[in-house]
Amino acid sequence: MSCETVLAQTGLAGRAGKSRWPARLDLLQSGTGLFLALFMWGHMFFVASILLGEPAMWAITKFFEGYFLFGRSYPWLVSCVVACVALVFAVHALLAMRKFPATYRQLRTIRAHAKAMRHADTTLWIWQVYTGFPLFFLASAHLYQMLVWPQNIGPYASSDRVWSDALWPFYLAMLLAVELHGGIGLYRLALKWGWPNAPRRTLARLKWGLTAFFLVLGLATLGAYMKIGYEHRAHHGERYEPDGVKEERKARMEEEAR
Ligand code: HEM
Repeated sequence: MSCETVLAQTGLAGRAGKSRWPARLDLLQSGTGLFLALFMWGHMFFVASILLGEPAMWAITKFFEGYFLFGRSYPWLVSCVVACVALVFAVHALLAMRKFPATYRQLRTIRAHAKAMRHADTTLWIWQVYTGFPLFFLASAHLYQMLVWPQNIGPYASSDRVWSDALWPFYLAMLLAVELHGGIGLYRLALKWGWPNAPRRTLARLKWGLTAFFLVLGLATLGAYMKIGYEHRAHHGERYEPDGVKEERKARMEEEAR
């Protein structure tokens, strides 16, 4: 079929110029995806600070609340960061919807094509749809919690949420979905835009290596929150404070009472 016939059938033949918008939207989807993937790498390391012990995670949390800069905690600073991430997430999800199969028939067709072609990258594309779909719900719920209750982040508060508030199955599902989705996404970005300009096989190996690394890190992190939450279950709601800070706070309160 000639190019002219295709254009005539789609009703585009008479148009003076072809729209640049699909390309622009594609660039925006890649950009927001890259931002979210890089954010996730940072996020996983910050959250994994619990593996170094409660004081390390406490320090990271307080750092983001501005405690070391202002001498006081401002959890709304965390809400501001969450709001920005949520905005990028929403734009990314909106743009991704353009490419989702819209009907059962379309889904059946793409699955049949993938099965017939046995082309690894096409199969990966379908997996990106499968893992992206649950993230609409899981990441939205997580971001909402972090946005509205940023003061409830910390070694004990997070562990209580994971164990006593029974959110660990939620985090497990989100971890699997986000690591697979992000890994495949970065691999596809590299292929699409040609950076890093390495052979497909090398990029695929790198992708699986990174996915495995972040999955192992994430599972170990989740295990640590579950263990601390389990041990802390009788004191649900109590917040962690390093000894020095606790004494300082008590002394300040005593002085104020005098
Ligand atoms: C600025 C925004 C975000 C903040 C402040 C944040 C904060 C946190 C915190 C403190 C935890 C530890 C558990 C808890 O306290 O409930 C956590 C866990 C987690 N978050 Fe986020 N998060 C953010 C965005 C995201 C996004 C966009 C995703 C992915 C879609 C995500 C995926 C996860 C996963 C998978 C875990 C479990 C990690 C594990 O236990 O190994 N987070 N997050």
